[in-house]
Amino acid sequence: MEFRHYSVMLNECIDGLNIKPSGTYFDGTLGGGGHSEEILKKLDSGFLFATDLDDDALSSTGKRLEKYKNFKAVKSNFKNFLKVCEDLGVDKIDGAILDLGVSSYQLDNRERGFSYMADEVLLDMRMDRSGGVSAYDIVNGYDEKRLRFIISTYGEEKFAQNIAKNIVLEREKALIKTTGELVKIIDKSIPYKFKRDGHPAKKTFQAIRIEVNGELDGLDTVIKDIVGKLKVSGRLAIITFHSLEDRVVKSVFKELSSGCNCDKRYPCVCGKKEIVKEITKKPITASDDELTKNSRSRSAKLRIVEKL
Ligand SMILES: C[S@@+](CC[C@H](N)C(=O)[O-])C[C@H]1O[C@@H](n2cnc3c(N)ncnc32)[C@H](O)[C@@H]1O
Repeated sequence: MEFRHYSVMLNECIDGLNIKPSGTYFDGTLGGGGHSEEILKKLDSGFLFATDLDDDALSSTGKRLEKYKNFKAVKSNFKNFLKVCEDLGVDKIDGAILDLGVSSYQLDNRERGFSYMADEVLLDMRMDRSGGVSAYDIVNGYDEKRLRFIISTYGEEKFAQNIAKNIVLEREKALIKTTGELVKIIDKSIPYKFKRDGHPAKKTFQAIRIEVNGELDGLDTVIKDIVGKLKVSGRLAIITFHSLEDRVVKSVFKELSSGCNCDKRYPCVCGKKEIVKEITKKPITASDDELTKNSRSRSAKLRIVEKL
């Protein structure tokens, strides 16, 4: 299957990064390389390094971008950003982008098991298929309480309790192997009148995917790591696709952009200083034009900070 991904808010990201032709940039979520390629087009003596966990993305996009000699893609979790910098001998960077979540390729390539639209497909959902737990392991292995917690927390699903209970009941009869089998269990766990708001399995699939890939673990830390490596006036742009991710990004950006909060009548004792300024006071969202071309950008929010 051809690797295709519509890059979300491409112009907004590139404008927001304020690319310097001689700068060093990091794209933590290479995917189909749409953002990476636009950055590369703006560089002359500069350098771009990128990470992804997905072998398909790395081979297909890596090949497409190999004509750029100032580009290096590495298979790594972007949360290992500091180690990647060390390995590549990068000291400071001029900007970075994280376009979180899954690519259209991962969603559309049914054999990856991300999509609730597929049927006889093995439950997988791993971005990195070389190891780790899959959706199958979670659905068939986690106890009911843990399943309920994940579905309720990461999926913000009202009927998490029902869904978790039915998963456990069904897997006692036979292991749940395919996305289609899971969709049926979710479907019967949600009362009819609550099914009008999108596909009934959407929230549960999101929850399991977040758990499989540890998507929220350490997100706050890597944002601080990246900001720590930014040069003065360097920028970090992050696109999120659901409220849980956005909450983390918003709160870390707020923490880094706020200074001393001591009682102003007395000398400061906290010593806290603003490290960044928020370029986007409110998140940027996709234009109407983009929404007509790519409905996936509907939930996207772009936030940008600049190092002080
Ligand atoms: C939304 S897509 C990025 C699309 C890309 N910006 C483009 O324009 O084509 C997200 C990509 O990031 C990868 N990814 C998600 N979380 C990751 C992580 N923690 N570390 C490395 N790659 C990750 C996914 O495998 C996927 O290929």
